[in-house]
Amino acid sequence: MKSTVTPIRSVVAESAPPALAIQTKDLAVHYGALCAVRGVSLQVPQQQITAIIGPSGCGKTSVLSSLNRLTDLIPGARVSGQILIDGADVLWPAYDPVALRRRVGKVFQKPNPFPLSIARNLDLPLRDQGVRNADERAGRIEAVLRRVGLWDEVAQRLDMPAQQLSGGQQQRLCIARALVLEPDILLMDEPCSALDPIASGVVEGLIEELRGDYTVVVVTHNLQQARRIADHLAVFWTSGDAGCLVEQGPAGAIFDSPKQAITAAYLDGRCC
Ligand SMILES: Nc1ncnc2c1ncn2[C@@H]1O[C@H](COP(=O)(O)OP(=O)(O)O)[C@@H](O)[C@H]1O
Ligand SMILES: [Mg+2]
Repeated sequence: MKSTVTPIRSVVAESAPPALAIQTKDLAVHYGALCAVRGVSLQVPQQQITAIIGPSGCGKTSVLSSLNRLTDLIPGARVSGQILIDGADVLWPAYDPVALRRRVGKVFQKPNPFPLSIARNLDLPLRDQGVRNADERAGRIEAVLRRVGLWDEVAQRLDMPAQQLSGGQQQRLCIARALVLEPDILLMDEPCSALDPIASGVVEGLIEELRGDYTVVVVTHNLQQARRIADHLAVFWTSGDAGCLVEQGPAGAIFDSPKQAITAAYLDGRCC
């Protein structure tokens, strides 16, 4: 007779919480005297898509930028608390921000290719990283352009200025530029919001294809998009004088039955 007992290993696998790629503890971002966001203890599961949602001005961009210390480059910005990646606090002053940004890439709202050719946009970061062999660079450029679905569109015109590409193509090139350095984590700040609906759909499809190979943290103001792509959800809000994280967890569970009244109201479109 066949046993109906579920093997212990699969029970453990199903119930174990996912490993975390990033964990923040009591994170706060200040700009001079202004506290943009405080008390953020965010959990980002490995190799999943985490969507950060919330109304404008609640600190989503500030938190995202702090994760690879791009906030270091903003005059007057100050980040406190902890950001743990592989158990190390990346806010530790001796932590090398250049190595961090290689590991944690970022894509911005508005496509921002370098004013160079398509190929040079990808070649330059590889040279900077010390990849001396031209054949290796060419191979990695082709592979990453295939990964973002651009190769067939640009293979015959790699020397064309990148800024002559359409907005959606430019954004996919910027994603390729982040991926060419083989990061583990990709941060994306409203990557579709400057694109037309068709280009936005293509980039959204690409983000979904990255699931499983990369840890993706995407800020989006598009709740439908968050519902479609997110495995994990973090909901931000402005409380008093600063932004805060009000709720986080598996996306489906939060969309179906949010624990916080403010999340329920936001998801229903009853506020902001
Ligand atoms: N570079 C900056 N200098 C001063 N204040 C800033 C800067 N960037 C953001 N802020 C302020 O921090 C708060 C949070 O902004 P932001 O992180 O951009 O929110 P969101 O991305 O959710 O719209 C806002 O009050 C905003 O005006
Ligand atoms: Mg923002």
